[in-house]
Amino acid sequence: MTDAAPTGTQFSPRVFSGIQPSGGLTLGNYLGAIRRFVDMQNANQDSGIETIYCMVDQHAITVWQNPADLTRNTRELAAGYIASGLDPAKSILFNQSQVAEHAQLGWLFNCVARMGWMQRMTQWKDKAGKNQQNASLGLFAYPALMAADILVYHATHVPVGEDQKQHVELTRDIAAKFNHDFGVDFFPMTEPVIEGAATRVMSLRDGSKKMSKSDPSDMSRINMTDDAEAIASKIRKARTDPDALPSEVDGLAERPEARNLVNIYAALSDQTVDQVLADVGGKQFSEFKPMLADLAVAKLSPISGEMARLMETPDEIDAILRKGADQAREIAAPVLKKAYDIVGMIR
Ligand code: AMP
Ligand code: TRP
Repeated sequence: MTDAAPTGTQFSPRVFSGIQPSGGLTLGNYLGAIRRFVDMQNANQDSGIETIYCMVDQHAITVWQNPADLTRNTRELAAGYIASGLDPAKSILFNQSQVAEHAQLGWLFNCVARMGWMQRMTQWKDKAGKNQQNASLGLFAYPALMAADILVYHATHVPVGEDQKQHVELTRDIAAKFNHDFGVDFFPMTEPVIEGAATRVMSLRDGSKKMSKSDPSDMSRINMTDDAEAIASKIRKARTDPDALPSEVDGLAERPEARNLVNIYAALSDQTVDQVLADVGGKQFSEFKPMLADLAVAKLSPISGEMARLMETPDEIDAILRKGADQAREIAAPVLKKAYDIVGMIR
């Protein structure tokens, strides 16, 4: 890991990331985020670098969530983390609302961040849509809470998919403005970590749209809980073009759907896109799609099986989250305390 951009003070490396329990997990979440979380957990095992992974339930409620669904989705997300290889003995796993320090630092950041910064966020523009007046205040302030999630741990590295880059950059802006306004060198300049062949997995129905848990069409995404038949059928019906696959990356330039399927294949098989194309170049989709379906089923079904098993004992999941929250609070509380001191608040 590279050091966080220097601010004068050296911050020791620490990894934080989060996912919203606002629906089921998709293949995009898995390849863009969770697999990276696991890699960073395992790579940093011997170095003492903490890896902290959160279910950001307070972000989820910036748009309406049915309460029973929120509870279930939070547990299912925790099950997805664990089934994918995150280990509560190696990483801190918890849900955001159990660690009040996130919202508390979030308030300070609401007072540091500027309206104009928030207005420029593409996720805000996409999610608020045409009727911004009707969006929740929480949806607008969302990136300030995200900055607090990260900075309440002084996290230096944040593994995310491509779509979150702008939010991590805003986190740096908030850290820099806080440091500047109070004449301190307190918050680090956090780096996004965006790696792998699938940092932006696209919809199976439309190669110009991100694969998303909130897409109205279930055929557009592979859910981590889909069974083998559903996975195979979605891949079979995925939109493609009539041409054979190229042997080189350049040949994918104007073919977003083809590129997406090849990227997914590369990510799932731990190969580069070049390696995959060296193998499958010249094949028709009628031949490539079943290969991809077999690979996806082989990689995903052990995970969905384990998720289902874990979901049978929700109390155990809740106990893991409570323990994780206690560990997280131990790191967050002194950082918040110091931030309050810096601002001049009496405690
Ligand atoms: P969200 O589901 O919006 O909370 O996203 C959680 C994490 O998954 C973030 O790091 C996202 O960047 C990542 N992610 C979500 N959708 C995709 C996608 N289609 N491709 C790659 N990464 C994604
Ligand atoms: N905004 C992220 C997403 O939609 C989720 C998130 C909230 C997050 N807080 C975070 C990601 C802190 C990384 C770090 O995907």
